[in-house]
This record gives sequence, structure tokens and C-alpha cells, in this order.
Amino acid sequence: MADIGIDLGTGTTVVCHPRDGVVYDEPSLLVEWPARRGRELILGNDAAALDGRTPPGARTGRPVRGGAVTDLSLVRTYLHELLRRTSRNRWRVRRPHAVLSCPVDATPLERRALLEAAEEAGLGHADLLPAPLAGALGCGLDLADARVQAVADVGAGTAEIAVFCRGTVLTRRSCRHAGDEMTAAVRTHLREHHGLHLSEAAADALKVRASAAREPLAAEGRDVATGRPRVVTVEVAEIEAALAPVVRRAVGALADFLDDVPVAGIPDLLAGGVVLAGGSAPAPHLRDELEAALGVPVKVPDRPRTCVAEGLALAGGRPELRARPA
Ligand SMILES: Nc1ncnc2c1ncn2[C@@H]1O[C@H](COP(=O)(O)OP(=O)(O)OP(=O)(O)O)[C@@H](O)[C@H]1O
Ligand SMILES: [Mg+2]
Repeated sequence: MADIGIDLGTGTTVVCHPRDGVVYDEPSLLVEWPARRGRELILGNDAAALDGRTPPGARTGRPVRGGAVTDLSLVRTYLHELLRRTSRNRWRVRRPHAVLSCPVDATPLERRALLEAAEEAGLGHADLLPAPLAGALGCGLDLADARVQAVADVGAGTAEIAVFCRGTVLTRRSCRHAGDEMTAAVRTHLREHHGLHLSEAAADALKVRASAAREPLAAEGRDVATGRPRVVTVEVAEIEAALAPVVRRAVGALADFLDDVPVAGIPDLLAGGVVLAGGSAPAPHLRDELEAALGVPVKVPDRPRTCVAEGLALAGGRPELRARPA
């Protein structure tokens, strides 16, 4: 039976099937909308479109934050609905097996909570694999390799890096200076320097556009002084400057893992470099700053946002990886 990979992130959930590839890639958001009989469950993009527009009695929640389950019943409901949405006509098995991501420093309690929620949500069996290891598999690294390898994953809620040898973590670092903090920095900048109040979604979209744009960008929000709608033009350099302190904090928190790498592994890192995965990998100057701090090459894979889920789906066929205590 093919196992599916579920990367349940703070910002995005990506589901990958070993044969079909990525079958779901939407915000990790659940809205429970009051209905005549009970409640209607709205997930992902549809839930994000409603964010901040819900009536009294509706409940909006993110199932995990920084990889940790926020509310067990919310995760159970979310995963149950996710399985229902993604299994229609795709998997004949009613209770699919899955490999889920977890943070590399998740405590045994956090791991158990996630596994319990997954199995109660309708998975036949669930295993966990730390996100950086899954990212390594997803971008083609061989986890069984005897050389020392390093993969960073900078997502929405967490930035983490793991150094491993033969699939076993030798050292790791983790911090909360990631995409959500960058989005908050963009919001603060717009409020303080342009008097514009932006929704979280608008600030996030502005940040993402800035990572690829050269021309000034339009930001739509509410004027702080008048309360009226307003559009302002923002230079890309301004966004980059607003993000710079968060990028520096993330790099500062991750880079000292090098002190714990056994000296025999240093030549492996110099040759293989560090892979930088996660949705925030394209954030302005993150790659360059990490490379400058580490003194080893830092490479962003082709699909930094989905490689963790792709690796999880691959791990389904590798029971020796899943059985390994992480
Ligand atoms: N081009 C981009 N430039 C900068 N940031 C981006 C870009 N594209 C996406 N992001 C950010 O990436 C983050 C989502 O990444 P990802 O899906 O890897 O996180 P996650 O897995 O949900 O979170 P976590 O792993 O921390 O729990 C969001 O903060 C989003 O704003
Ligand atoms: Mg992630």
C-alpha cells in the first residue's frame, strides 16, 4: 500500500502521493462556519479567502504552530477533512497510511500528540519524519549516505537546520524567526512608515511578491488615520530592509550549528554545502547571509516549498527511515 506524505506546516499543508505527486497545496487553515445543522468545515484556500470575514460563532484555526499541535480536536477535524478532500477518487484505500512531518526538535509528547490526532482522523497508520530529513529526500539527497549532510528548512513558523549522517541527526538548531515573523515585519513597516494597516494575508502576499519583483509594488489596506481604504506604492528595497532584521536573527540562530559538527564532517559540508528548503527560502538575502555566515555553499532546491512533502511520500517506501528514532 502506497503511503502518502503530509507536510502539515504552520502556513501551508502539502500532501504528496508517491505516484501522483503533489495533490494538495493550500494554507493550513480551518474555518468552522455556523450552519443550520451544526457547522460547515471550510479548508485551505477557501478558508483563507474568508479569513477576517467570518460571522460571530465561526471559528478559524491553524492546526499547528511551529510544528506543534495547537488544539488536538482542531487537528483531528482538520486532518479528517483533509483526507476526505484529497482521497476522493484518488486512493482506493479508505484508511491510507501516511508519513507526516514534524520539527526536528519536537518533543516525544508533541510527536505522540500529532500521531494520535492523525490516527484518530482516519489514517490507518502514521509515522513521523523530521522536516529537514524529509526535505533532503525530496530534493534527491541519499539519506543513507555516510557523508555528513545539512539541510535547513525555513517555513512560516519555524526555521530549522539538521546535520545528519546515515539518516541520523548529529546536531540541529531551531528558532521561530521565519516567514510569519517576516510578514509581521512587513505589516509593522507599512503601518509605521506609510500609515497603512494591512491584513496578514495582504502583507504575506506583498512579501512574496517582493522576493521576485524589481518594480515598486502596490499595497492595499486601511489608512490608519482616516480609516478609509488606501493604496500605497512600496519600493522593493523597503520590504527588503524591513525583512533584513528577521533574516539576520534567523541566520544568527541557525549558523552556530557548525560548532557542533564533528571536524571530520567539515570537508563533507564544504563539498556538499547546505540545502535551504522551505517556503521562505527565496526571502531576500536569506541564502546569501546564510552562506556568508557559514562559509559553505548554500543551495536552494528547485521546489523548496514542496520538497518536504515529496520526501515524506518517498519515505513511505523506506520503512527503515520511519522506524529510526529521530
Ligand atoms: N517567494 C517567497 N519569498 C519569501 N517568502 C515566501 C515566498 N513564498 C512563500 N513564502 C513564505 O513561506 C512561508 C510558507 O513556507 P512553508 O510552506 O515551507 O511553511 P510551513 O511548512 O507551513 O511552516 P513551518 O514549517 O514553519 O511549520 C510563508 O511564510 C510564506 O509567506
Ligand atoms: Mg514546513
